[in-house]
Amino acid sequence: MNVTKSRREFFGVAAATVAGAGLFGRRVFSQAAASKPALLGGTPAHAGRWPGWPEWRQTWEPSILEVLRSGKWYRGSGEQVQQFEAAYATLLGAKRCLATASGTTALVVGMHVLDVDAGDEVIVSPFTFIASYNAILLKMALPVLADTDPATLTMDPASIERRITERTRAIMPVHIYGMPCDMDPILAIAGKHQLAVIEDACQAWLAEYKGRKCGTIGDLGCFSFQNSKHLPSGEGGAITGNRDDLLDRAGSFHDCGRSYGRFTGTRPNFTRGGNFRMQHFQAAMLLQQFDKLVQDTARRRENADRLSAALKEIPGIQPARLPENSRAVWHLYPFRYDADRFQGLPRDTFIRAMRAEGIPCSGGYQEQYFDGLLDEAISSRGYKRLFSAQRLKEYRDSFEELTGNREVCATTVAITQNLLLAERADIDDIAEAIRKIQAHGAELARA
Ligand SMILES: Cc1ncc(COP(=O)(O)O)c(C=O)c1O
Repeated sequence: MNVTKSRREFFGVAAATVAGAGLFGRRVFSQAAASKPALLGGTPAHAGRWPGWPEWRQTWEPSILEVLRSGKWYRGSGEQVQQFEAAYATLLGAKRCLATASGTTALVVGMHVLDVDAGDEVIVSPFTFIASYNAILLKMALPVLADTDPATLTMDPASIERRITERTRAIMPVHIYGMPCDMDPILAIAGKHQLAVIEDACQAWLAEYKGRKCGTIGDLGCFSFQNSKHLPSGEGGAITGNRDDLLDRAGSFHDCGRSYGRFTGTRPNFTRGGNFRMQHFQAAMLLQQFDKLVQDTARRRENADRLSAALKEIPGIQPARLPENSRAVWHLYPFRYDADRFQGLPRDTFIRAMRAEGIPCSGGYQEQYFDGLLDEAISSRGYKRLFSAQRLKEYRDSFEELTGNREVCATTVAITQNLLLAERADIDDIAEAIRKIQAHGAELARA
């Protein structure tokens, strides 16, 4: 990955050693202008491979073999899941943690114990993986979309209150790409209207807001450990929180409604519930990766800071703004792209040009509320029974009001977290690729 930088040697300047942002910008611009974009037949800005994901170490294997040979594979026997829960709660500074089968099931269980019921409404960030919407739909509740702040790419607190109705039960801020939502105003609105707050922290392991870890700030936090995640076990999830009553109820609901902790439900043995349990294999995998998560997070942050400093110097590229006193973990690293500053080069062609430069990237989430999923839900028999025709029409019309989210969906470009685990020189290649594309925007637009 640490490839020889003959291009830099030729120009006699390593980006990192150039003092002064103005000088840095001019020198590198002329360098970028001189080289032909890879999409037009030039040499790619980045040669070599990026770190792969996920990563596995042979030294971790005995712990998996131990589970395999014990024959205690299910949560009701064995100890790894409980060990994971205790360790993850400690890592986050939460009182309790409950491991689940996935992030989606964590959200479903979390909403259940926060009393989100069929016919209720939950206000959620629209700029998210579709699972956030789906979890609410699985509860037969309505995912009501707040708007997105184009500067932060997260839920705009100013858009929440006008979405509240007498059916609203909870707010689900999503710390998308591992960037903390601005939780203080969200908590204030929730407090004022007596709403629960369930954090979708499925992409935000170790992200911090004002000294607290994401997932420990609202009533409950939910995490995913799916294969692509920073702490992966193929599938897996967790609910974190500080209230014993909620975590006991969650434990019961996720385990077929068996008694759990102090929660015995309405009957001596079973209450309502499902099977949303994690397996010991998954917990053993996760426990092995804690140190790596901490080290990787530090590296991603360092590289993201370096990249942001370089990108801020490029007109038309806007890195996301984080809330005051918060730290992201960058499941993806996003920036907003202004085609006007790239001689009209459309975003899709910019992305193609970046890929040709050896920088894999993609647009962020689309305006997925227009994709048919929500239409299918609200035209179903169940939703028509649960909500009035007038409410469903108002709901559908409200998608048109999401102007901040529309802008974000149309202009975001994102790179995946594994690029941030590369060497510093590789990170500099990302900015260099963008400068090169900018210098040749008009030609690329015609390509
Ligand atoms: C923001 C967000 N919410 C929820 C989920 C659901 O997690 P899982 O895939 O583990 O069910 C994901 C997973 O990709 C996610 O990124």
